[in-house]
Amino acid sequence: MTKRIIVLTILIISILGGLGFILYSQFFLEKAPAPGLGRIDEIKKRGEIIIGTDATYPPMESLDEQGNFFGMDIDIAREIASDLGVKAKFKNIIWEEIFDAAKNGEADMIISAITITRERTETLAFSDPYFNAGQVIVGAIDKQGIISGPKDLKEYRVGVQVGTTSEVEARKYAANPSLVNTYENYDLAKEDLLKGKIDAIIIDYPAAVGMIAKEERLQIAGEIFTQEFYGIAIQKDQPGLLSQINKTIRRLKQEGGLRRIEEGWLGQ
Ligand code: ARG
Repeated sequence: MTKRIIVLTILIISILGGLGFILYSQFFLEKAPAPGLGRIDEIKKRGEIIIGTDATYPPMESLDEQGNFFGMDIDIAREIASDLGVKAKFKNIIWEEIFDAAKNGEADMIISAITITRERTETLAFSDPYFNAGQVIVGAIDKQGIISGPKDLKEYRVGVQVGTTSEVEARKYAANPSLVNTYENYDLAKEDLLKGKIDAIIIDYPAAVGMIAKEERLQIAGEIFTQEFYGIAIQKDQPGLLSQINKTIRRLKQEGGLRRIEEGWLGQ
């Protein structure tokens, strides 16, 4: 009799233990995925990837009045989302806050004509480069011949978007820091250039082409004077997501899709 009770008790305890383990693994183990693979699992579960971009930079990224995002970076981001099998959800984030948005997870990835720099790779992980862009000067047509390279900027008032590699360049050449005017975005810099409040703008070449497109009074002055590569940035230590992003970039490079996207937006 007592033997039976003991056997029964052991049986019940083992069944309860087994059930407990199953419950535990369902609720806890799943929430703590293998280190480094977290974010991609989260994205897949959510069914959507949140993409941060400062959509004030045609033809790389823009936003129309209906709230639609468009541009070269937007097309690339859509390819990444589709390879991941999820929806692309774009979030417009001002440039000054874009890196923090990636760091604190407000965006799963940021794509925004971001130059890969050593400083930035200290706090964020970057994809393979997908575009080679250098900077140029945009000036008013009446400064033609006077400003034709960064060295000519010395005594002139220059406009740049705050926190960009263009700001770094502007500070290198300015005779006096007060000559460097920083703006939240390039639309504001362009307004000031057209009003004559500044003499020139430093900006990435593709965006310079976008800026002068409908402006008869503006021109690109001189040659591209830096070499910079754009990359997509994500939080550090997310190898799963990073390799997936790189897979798409490599696929687009191999099958010519990247060139098609470039030609479509830059008309080369
Ligand atoms: N390539 C420059 C940088 O990384 C400027 C990028 C600005 N991008 C934008 N979407 N406003 O600093």
